Amino acid sequence: MKKLDVVLKDKSYPIVIGKNLIDTLGERIKEFYKGTKLAIVTDENLNSIYGERVKKNLEKDGFEVKLIVVAAGEKSKSFGVLQELYNGFLDFKLTRSDLIIAFGGGVVGDLCGFAASTFLRGVPFVQVPTSLLAQIDSSVGGKVAIDLERGKNLVGSFYHPEFVLIDTELLKTLDKRFLWDGMAEVIKYGCISSKELFSRLMEFKDEEELLNNIDEIVFKCCDIKRKVVQEDEKDKGLRMILNFGHTIGHGIEKYFDYSKYTHGEAVAMGMYMITKNSEELGITQLGTSNKIKEILSKYNLEYNLDNIDMKEIVESTTLDKKNIGNKMNLILLEEIGVSFIKSIDNNEIGKYIY
Ligand code: GLY
Repeated sequence: MKKLDVVLKDKSYPIVIGKNLIDTLGERIKEFYKGTKLAIVTDENLNSIYGERVKKNLEKDGFEVKLIVVAAGEKSKSFGVLQELYNGFLDFKLTRSDLIIAFGGGVVGDLCGFAASTFLRGVPFVQVPTSLLAQIDSSVGGKVAIDLERGKNLVGSFYHPEFVLIDTELLKTLDKRFLWDGMAEVIKYGCISSKELFSRLMEFKDEEELLNNIDEIVFKCCDIKRKVVQEDEKDKGLRMILNFGHTIGHGIEKYFDYSKYTHGEAVAMGMYMITKNSEELGITQLGTSNKIKEILSKYNLEYNLDNIDMKEIVESTTLDKKNIGNKMNLILLEEIGVSFIKSIDNNEIGKYIY
């Protein structure tokens, strides 16, 4: 088992990474929680595989457990489902001294984290991320949110968990498409801040070798993310580098109504496209976009979109919530492993996309 600490001004918490850790959840909770009530939020798919096991184990450890199950998928990050969680907590008579557990991927983590941050003005919670994307990104750093009809993550807060428990064994039951989806964000960490990680990923022979080394990869990604978050918790500067590939990626997701491409698949294309253009503009070292193309193909990710009106993508892009006024921040690479933030006028975006 490996451990990392996220050290912030007002709060610090550990991230533990290893195999078969979900059966140790109760012991870890007991280290800091003296109460008995636990509300677990999960989705239908995970509930059918792990629900009973997690509940029974925690009951054996002496906890009174309520399992709240939401539908799988992004649609659950809504006000309607949020209210269902509040009602579940109220029925269970949950108080501010009790504990909530988010057991799931990014949707459950974001939704449950936001519910925890707002119910009774804040109830402590624990993140048990189950998808690769959630393990290396969304469960770390405290961003929790729900979606509005007009866009994703438009209502949320920064609310950190008591700890993050990452059981990489759970990735075995993850749908393959979502393994590659998470790999897009793994590749992103290599692109923005670690040439070594990028090379390591290029070295793996096949999926088996990747999965045999997944603890090391998850650890490296969480380490990069926690360092970025420690320096810029509220996303006012450095943290923006985590959005490499996301400006175009969000545009692509939105253009296809969040149904054709997963987040990671869209970000993969965003990373390649923006780098191809910044390379042509003389900003990025020649050959970088080819390296990105190669690594994306290796991990079953598309790198380009054919026959699409990129102007429409630009329009969705400039509506991204991170663009304030007439300016927007783009994340570009100098080379693999070295990124920077470039502030541009909204009307300049075309040259980075066409
Ligand atoms: N996923 C980007 C961030 O946490 O800032």
